[in-house]
Amino acid sequence: MKICILGLGYIGLPTALLFAAHGAEVVGVDVKQSVVDCLNHGNLPFNEPGIGDLYREAKERFVAKTEPETADAFLIAVPTPLDPATKVSDLSYVKKAAETVARYLSAGNLVILESTVPPGTSERVVIPRLERSGIAVGDFHYAHCPERAIPGRTLQEMTGNTRIIGGYDRDSTDRATAIYQTFVRGQIYQTNTRTAEFVKLMENTCRDVNIALANEFAQLAEECGINVWEAITLANKHPRVSILNPGPGVGGHCIAVDPWFLTENSTRCKMVSTAREVNDSMPNYLLHVVRNLLSGIRNPTISVFGVTYKGNIGDTRESPAIKFIQLAENEGYAVRCHDPHVAEFPHPLMDAMDAASGSDCLVVLADHDCFRTIEPAGLPMRTKIVVDARNILDHEKWAGQGFAIRVLGDGVSAQQVLLGEITPPAGLYAAETVRSIASTSPPSISLLSQNGREGYL
Ligand SMILES: NC(=O)c1ccc[n+]([C@@H]2O[C@H](COP(=O)([O-])OP(=O)(O)OC[C@H]3O[C@@H](n4cnc5c(N)ncnc54)[C@H](O)[C@@H]3O)[C@@H](O)[C@H]2O)c1
Repeated sequence: MKICILGLGYIGLPTALLFAAHGAEVVGVDVKQSVVDCLNHGNLPFNEPGIGDLYREAKERFVAKTEPETADAFLIAVPTPLDPATKVSDLSYVKKAAETVARYLSAGNLVILESTVPPGTSERVVIPRLERSGIAVGDFHYAHCPERAIPGRTLQEMTGNTRIIGGYDRDSTDRATAIYQTFVRGQIYQTNTRTAEFVKLMENTCRDVNIALANEFAQLAEECGINVWEAITLANKHPRVSILNPGPGVGGHCIAVDPWFLTENSTRCKMVSTAREVNDSMPNYLLHVVRNLLSGIRNPTISVFGVTYKGNIGDTRESPAIKFIQLAENEGYAVRCHDPHVAEFPHPLMDAMDAASGSDCLVVLADHDCFRTIEPAGLPMRTKIVVDARNILDHEKWAGQGFAIRVLGDGVSAQQVLLGEITPPAGLYAAETVRSIASTSPPSISLLSQNGREGYL
């Protein structure tokens, strides 16, 4: 079996290497010469656990090129970004890839689309372009197999997750199932193309809506003066309740994007769009929290710790930190950023000590494990305030070092921080607005940990 895979990014490359490692002859195709050169020189264009070993296993049967070759099967894994202005999917990469495949297509070939697309894209956009080859669908086979893997666990999830395969017809579905079965250990469920497209979008929309609900609970809890983390832990004791964690917003190329693909052509949608709005407004909410804490401080500086959209990865695509930083700078705050997982970011990154230097408020936006053990004692802050938007810090330790702690969704810490007392350093506050900000003592929570979580810390 010879497979040609278009798009050697986070999804296409591991997929190509898995097929090659399981016996297929694989031609990996990318329009970026740099990606092709990198691979053909034995290097990998990005890091992912286990991918180096997989590459060594696969390299005898894998070659990278900028143009496809004739093959038995073609797999398309190119980007499907969201147009930021219109909030409509940009299918230009998928269209181009389908037109390219059409030039190499023969009767009997199988074409698989892995890219995430709005419902109906296979029928309306991809298949008609493939048919420009002069071969009608049915004479070539077609299936959509959406990808469920997440960065950081890509290989584990590509092989272990269940999969949905939606074929144009029975024969297409069975052929696509057979080739995935060479390396997928998870169950494979079969359906049609449009349902497979819809299912993928439903999955990420479900997560987005549930995160929005947690974020709304966090804001309500603050209004009610209770700790949402404790409340969620307790609510989740219900056998049919599973509330997610609140946070600074939703990012990444999937959860923050896919709900738009589902609703872009709908006139009926309310809940999905509202959830997007709730999650997109979380950086505004956090800035409002910070603004309250820093009001009156002259020339305030904020330190942002963690600029990725989730913990322990280096991906900053659609990260809520980007919006938070931009809003904060527009409002006149100096912003200093630190993220040990990120190499490149539009805003300069510095080490933890530099980022905290002279700062008035440290804001934790990403739940990197390394932040859990930060030693607050040595941080050269000007004002000891920390906003923990992920509830990951050891609050007792930070309070012990004189920090005022404000945890997103903790109405108890919100009140303590605003009502307590500290003596601000001389000259730090504008004379007319001397505010009092206190070190918090941890909220008293029986049975649960100090963070309101069970078995945590
Ligand atoms: N990354 C994930 O975790 C993830 C998870 C599930 C689904 N997806 C979906 O998978 C698809 C691919 O995502 P990704 O993260 O791998 O993207 P990516 O940006 O990492 O990689 C895509 C690659 O495709 C190449 N490319 C673009 N046009 C091409 C063409 N015509 N021919 C050949 N190569 C071309 C690009 O140069 C790039 O290297 C998207 O639809 C995405 O939504 C991604």
